[in-house]
Amino acid sequence: MQSPITEESNDLSTTIDDVDTIEIVNILQNCDKEIFSGWKKYKSDSIFSPNIIQTISNLSKVISDIVSSDEKICIVISGCGTSGRISFLVSRFFQDRINRDNLKIRYIIAGGDLALFTPQEAPEDDPKKGKNCLLKATEGFNKVIFIGVTCGLSAPFVAGQLDYCLNNTDKFIPVLIGFNPINLARNSKIEDWDKTFLNVAERMAEYSQNGLAFVVNPIVGPEPITGSSRMKSGTATIILLYTILATALNENNINRETLIEKALKEAEKANALAYTQKSPIAKGINICGEALNREGRICYVGKELVGFMGLMDASECVPTFGADIYDIFGYVKNGYKFLNNVEGDLSFKADISLEYFIQFVAPKLTAYDVIVFLTPDKITVNSLNGCPAKKILITFSKDDLDINLLEFSVVINLPIGNFDNANSWTMQLVIKAVCNALSTGAHIMKGKVYKNRMIDVRVSNNKLFFRSLNLIKTFGKCNDEMAKECLLKAIYEVNSLNQEILSLPISSHIEKATAMGKVVPTAIIICLTNCSSEEAKSMLQETPMIRHAIRLLCNKR
Ligand code: F6P
Repeated sequence: MQSPITEESNDLSTTIDDVDTIEIVNILQNCDKEIFSGWKKYKSDSIFSPNIIQTISNLSKVISDIVSSDEKICIVISGCGTSGRISFLVSRFFQDRINRDNLKIRYIIAGGDLALFTPQEAPEDDPKKGKNCLLKATEGFNKVIFIGVTCGLSAPFVAGQLDYCLNNTDKFIPVLIGFNPINLARNSKIEDWDKTFLNVAERMAEYSQNGLAFVVNPIVGPEPITGSSRMKSGTATIILLYTILATALNENNINRETLIEKALKEAEKANALAYTQKSPIAKGINICGEALNREGRICYVGKELVGFMGLMDASECVPTFGADIYDIFGYVKNGYKFLNNVEGDLSFKADISLEYFIQFVAPKLTAYDVIVFLTPDKITVNSLNGCPAKKILITFSKDDLDINLLEFSVVINLPIGNFDNANSWTMQLVIKAVCNALSTGAHIMKGKVYKNRMIDVRVSNNKLFFRSLNLIKTFGKCNDEMAKECLLKAIYEVNSLNQEILSLPISSHIEKATAMGKVVPTAIIICLTNCSSEEAKSMLQETPMIRHAIRLLCNKR
C-alpha cells in the first residue's frame, strides 16, 4: 500500500544527519524547491499547475462574490499544530487589512490559544471537538467559508468540521487544503467516530464537482525530515492561504489568474531569497546546535507577525524532536496584546511578551544560550546589549538598523532589494525558511534525527503513534506486531505486556506516552537488542546522542 506523500522519506535528504551544516542548508533548499517544481510523477499537480491555479481562481471568485453581498459573512481557517498556527497567522494578517463591516476572518486551532505556541497534540484526534469549535466560531453568521488545513489529509479535528459543513451546505462552503492526493488521505479508524478522514475527503471531492466544496491539494513532495509538515507543507499552506484570500479580497479589477500566478512567483522568489544566505545560516545552525548540546536555550525574539514566526517554529520542536518546551521558545513584542487572540491574555499560563523576556528571561541567560533576533528594532537590540547569550541577527535592513553589529555572532542579512512590497506576507516566508533551517539543523546536531527520520518523535496523538510504529519497524527491522509490542513496552516500562495493557484503546497509550521522553528510541533499542526497557533507557543515558546509539545498534545487526 502506498504511503501518503507527506509521510514518505525524501530521497534528497537521506544523508541530512551525516553532512556539515552548509550541506544541511543545501538539502533543505533542494527539498523546498519541490514546493514549486512539483515532485516525481506528480509534477502535473504542482502548485503552479493549471488545474491548481484554476481551483484557486474558482475559489477566490466564489469568496469574492460572497463577501461583496450584504450578508454577514465569516471566513474561518482551522487546523492543528502548525496548520492551526498558520490559520491564526493569516487571519491576523487580514484582520488589519479588511474594511468591510459584514466580514470577519477567524481562526480555530485544536487545543485553543495555548496551542499557538505550545504543543497540544491530543485534541487533533477529536472530530466532535472540531465541530463544536466551528459552531462556536460561526454563530450568528449567514454564510461561512470554512477552510480546513490538514497537510497530511489526516486530522480528525478538521474531518469533524468538514463533515459538518458538508451536511450544511446552505450555510457553509467547505474548503480542504492539504498535500496528498485524495486517495492517499488517512484511512485509519477514528476513535468514537464512524468515518475516516478518507471518507470525508472523498465526499469533499464529490461535492467539489458541483462547486459546493473545494479541495486545494497540490503535491509538494515529502518533507526533508520525514513527516515534519511544519516545513514544506507549512510553507505551501501559507502560500495558498494568502494567495486565495489576497486575490479574493482584491478590489482592483485585474485578471484573477494573473494575480494568482504573480503571488505564487513572489512566494518562490521569497523562498529562494532565504537561501542566498547559506553560509551565515549554516553558522547560525552551528551556534544553535552547540547551545542545545550544552543544555542551553534558543530564544526567538521579534515583533509583529514576523516575530510570531519564531513562536511557531519553536513550538513544533516539541512533538518533532522530543524537545523540552523551553529548549526553544519565542517571544513577541506586546505579547497577547499584539496577538489579539480569541482567549485574550494568557500570561498567567505562559508569558510570551518580549517585554517579559527582556525583564525576566534575558538576565538569567548565559553564554550557553542563544537569542535569535527576528528583524528587530534598534530599541530591542540595545536593551539586550551586554547579555552574555550568543546573538544571531536576522534582518532585512542591516544598514538602516544603526546598531553595533559586533554584538552578534552571526548576521543573516536578507537582501530584499527587488521585492514589490517588503512588508508583505512573502517576508514571513523568508523568515520561516531561516527559522526552520536553524531549529531543524540544531536538532540534527543534537542527534535527534537518524538518516532523515525524527527518531525522538513524541507519541502525543494517533498519527504520531502510527508514525512511531513505522519508525520502530524501519530501524528495529521488525514486523507490525513486534513494533507495537516494543512501543507498548517502552510506554508502560515493562518487560512483558499483560492483558490489561493490551486491551486499552490507542488513546490511553497516547495519554500515558505524551508526558514521557525518549519513548521511540527506547522502543527501537528494545527491538534491536531484545533487552528490557530499563536496560534500553540506561543505554540511552550512556550514549545521550540518540542517533549514535541507534546507528551503532543498527550497524551491528
Ligand atoms: O500531530 C502533530 C502534527 O504532526 C504537527 O507536527 C502538525 O503541525 C500537525 O500535526 C498538523 O498536521 P496536519 O496539518 O497534517 O493536520
